[in-house]
Amino acid sequence: MAKLLNGKEVSAQVRRAAAEEVAQLKQQGVTPGLAVVIVGNDPASRVYVNNKKKACAEVGIYSEEYSLPEQTTQQELLDLVEKLNKKQEISGILVQLPLPKHLDDKAVIAAIDPSKDVDAFHTQNVGRIMLGDYHFLPCTPAGVMELLRSEDIPVEGKNCVVIGRSNIVGKPMAMLLLHQNGTVTICHSRTQNLADICRGADILVAAVGKAKFVTADMVKPGAVVIDVGMNRDENGKLCGDVDFAAVEPIASYITPVPGGVGPMTISMLMKNTIMAARLQAKLL
Ligand code: GUN
Repeated sequence: MAKLLNGKEVSAQVRRAAAEEVAQLKQQGVTPGLAVVIVGNDPASRVYVNNKKKACAEVGIYSEEYSLPEQTTQQELLDLVEKLNKKQEISGILVQLPLPKHLDDKAVIAAIDPSKDVDAFHTQNVGRIMLGDYHFLPCTPAGVMELLRSEDIPVEGKNCVVIGRSNIVGKPMAMLLLHQNGTVTICHSRTQNLADICRGADILVAAVGKAKFVTADMVKPGAVVIDVGMNRDENGKLCGDVDFAAVEPIASYITPVPGGVGPMTISMLMKNTIMAARLQAKLL
């Protein structure tokens, strides 16, 4: 029986601390502000954006939402980013991905002022993370590290396997585990003997985007299993990348889906927005 890594609980603790920090900053005349930009009508993105706005309200962060139509042009989106870069009340800018296909997400991310890049997707912030000298960490990997910390799970010297090499999760996740002195392997769709490699993991992070991809035979008894997936199973029910029912009995710790990594991601966004406000106010 694995112990659950309860993202809802840890996330609530992070948000309480964030709310206290926001209250203190407000006494110093600084109100953190987040602009969330969503283009088009992707239902999953809509849910994420609503949750982000709710979290801002909960911790006292000022927020603005820009909901743009599907047919928004690249120039219109870049103009909005430029306006938000200059806007005093806005400390952090988040452009929800994926963008509609006709828009170039790389160019949009490049246009965001790096000091307002609360996703940590800008090349400048990605580079700083590589060097271990950063202000912002990407929210999902940072949330995973916070979950590990909440249970004092050691990373140093451990075999850490990350399945998935996306810029948003897999690559930065590997880097953060490396910063904590983990021995890190990144697996992906071309990896040979994936199950064997996973079976060697003390800490296994699944960020594949495929329902129940990680099965019991891929998990070492006593491993810590982190599920970043958010999928629908054959019955339309929310599920992760890990076959939870099969893996839970052999893992030492496991994250549920929902209620694991998901809530942590948004709490880390709150922390990044506060950090952005501090950076801009020179209150570090
Ligand atoms: N889409 C899925 N995850 C994320 C995220 O962390 N940030 C943004 N901007 N879009 C996303």
